[in-house]
Amino acid sequence: AVSIDEVASTLKTLGLDTVPQAPNTYPTLNPVDIYRSHITEELVKITGIDAKIVYPLLAWTTKAENGDLQLAVPALRQKDKKADAFAQEIVDKFPESPLIEKPVVKQEKWVGFFFKPAPLTSLVVPMILKSGPAYGFNMNLGLRDPADPAQGRKKMIVEFSSPNIAKPFHAGHLRSTIIGGFLANLYEGAGWDVYRMNYLGDWGKQYGVLALGFDQFGSEEELVKNPIGHLYDVYVKISKIAADEADQVKTAKAKIVELKEKSENTSALEADIKKIEETGVDQQARDYFKCMVDGEEKALGLWKRFRDLSIEKYKQTYARLNIRYDEYSGESQVSEESMETAAKLMAEKGVTEDSEGAVIVDFTKHVKDPKKDAKEMKKLGKAIVKKKDGTSLYLTRDIGEASTRYEKHKFDNMIYVVASQQDLHLAQLFKIMELMGHTDISTRCQHINFGMVLGMSTRKGTAKFLDDILRDVGDKMHEVMRSNDDKYKQVEDPVKTADTLGISAVMVQDMKGKRINNYNFDMDRMTSFEGDTGPYLQYAHARLCSIHRKVSQAVSDIPSDLSTADLSLLNEPHAIEVVRQLAAWPDMFLNTVKTQEPTTVLTYLFKMVHTISSSYDHLQVVGSEREVMLARLALYGAARQVLNNGMRLLGLSPVERM
Ligand code: ARG
Repeated sequence: AVSIDEVASTLKTLGLDTVPQAPNTYPTLNPVDIYRSHITEELVKITGIDAKIVYPLLAWTTKAENGDLQLAVPALRQKDKKADAFAQEIVDKFPESPLIEKPVVKQEKWVGFFFKPAPLTSLVVPMILKSGPAYGFNMNLGLRDPADPAQGRKKMIVEFSSPNIAKPFHAGHLRSTIIGGFLANLYEGAGWDVYRMNYLGDWGKQYGVLALGFDQFGSEEELVKNPIGHLYDVYVKISKIAADEADQVKTAKAKIVELKEKSENTSALEADIKKIEETGVDQQARDYFKCMVDGEEKALGLWKRFRDLSIEKYKQTYARLNIRYDEYSGESQVSEESMETAAKLMAEKGVTEDSEGAVIVDFTKHVKDPKKDAKEMKKLGKAIVKKKDGTSLYLTRDIGEASTRYEKHKFDNMIYVVASQQDLHLAQLFKIMELMGHTDISTRCQHINFGMVLGMSTRKGTAKFLDDILRDVGDKMHEVMRSNDDKYKQVEDPVKTADTLGISAVMVQDMKGKRINNYNFDMDRMTSFEGDTGPYLQYAHARLCSIHRKVSQAVSDIPSDLSTADLSLLNEPHAIEVVRQLAAWPDMFLNTVKTQEPTTVLTYLFKMVHTISSSYDHLQVVGSEREVMLARLALYGAARQVLNNGMRLLGLSPVERM
């Protein structure tokens, strides 16, 4: 990173004696902070208005012609002054500055500020080259107390992916994995202490069903080779038997009604039903699951093997997406004790009530202020927290788990990355925590939701597993690459590259829009090198990497520290436009922390790579005169770094060649 002294000495050569630094700003991390602080200082002198009011009003413009930063004069709230006249007064009084041009009034009530190009370049390019992979990130944001780092960092639990064992890994899990991985990186980049958690669906009667199925259809060899696929196959087969039995019972019951009307004998059918009900898959599964709950070693042992082998396999797949977990928890890990404690508390506080032998929460009975929360409570409706037979449910386990996590981690925030189909479930969970009096927990929890993926299928049929999807997209990518023969021959390891590009294709398509939007899983579109796709972003990165490679091959003595190049030579409009955008990256990062939307990053990255790609014809590197070449190499090196940082934040693996 650059030191404050380095920034100070750059500013000194420009003619500023002190580093402008408003409170809670970071002149060594974010070049635009320097500009905001500088403009604020001048505005305070001119208007006498408090810096605290002025500083936050300096905002990015949407159009370059309005300047880099703008000030909405009415927002200064000076009752005795007319906004348009005041805007003019500010412009007239604004002194000559080494950093910015003379400001201008825009649309009567706005003041536009334009960064002077040369000083901006001299601040931004060295800052990027020296900060490297850290540029844009800001580890101070996660400090408990920025003034006293010894207080430590804020803790965040991100729970994401959370698939169900022996069930398909569906689109909802895919999105949770991608978005959750991104959010974890985001908070880590902001200096939080992030704990990544996978909450597996690994408990319930269906794991009794699975065990029975394994007894009948399982193969030890298949289990070890392909646990996820094999367990799923077994589960499908045994579920079919269970479903057939349920059908038989239903038909028999209907038949009995018929026979009884005719006063005929039904005892044979009744015996059939009894047999199924006593010895069928469903009852056996219940019994088996009861053994698991009671902690019987044999039952638990088998289930644990299924779980462990599945996790091992998942770990490999997650690694391809640059994701690792601090903990594989799951519904099975929720202790009976935590659920009992919660049940007691809920009863004590009158949150729950009995209903035909079950225990429920009727939210409509917990309206505190009809004007405020009646509608909300009506929406939440009723929820069961204990079944008639005394067993727990999905919701019950989430209640127990939330308290346990809080006791264990004392997190400042916890994010659940789950599809919007479960909006109601999580809203009920958070409200129950609140009603129980655990507002310390409920106020720290957040549901990050997202829309559906439409038409997600592999070319062989409906997609079931993450691996199939990734393999299929990799194959498709390989085909796309092969269609350009010349280029294809130069790729060193085409299979591996196709795999990485395919993963990028899936991830970028997923993160391109707002999270809540649904999107179509469009294999042709996402694997194209044209348009705003993953492969296009990778191509842009590889091309920036190739510039440095080509120069190194052509010229032998390139200085390792390019920030010493004569950056004043970067004076073409295209170079200046690239620098302006690179300067904005730290602010984009901050903005992303606010929006929690990966599209904030992607929109910026695509705009940036478009600017870069249209600059190439104007800013030749190889073949230019040495000093110019070095300056441009520094510029493109900085651009590569920013693109790389953005891609890593999203969870992509930037490629150097393709
Ligand atoms: N396993 C669940 C499912 O596939 C998702 C779990 C979400 N997280 C939670 N704490 N409920 O639907």
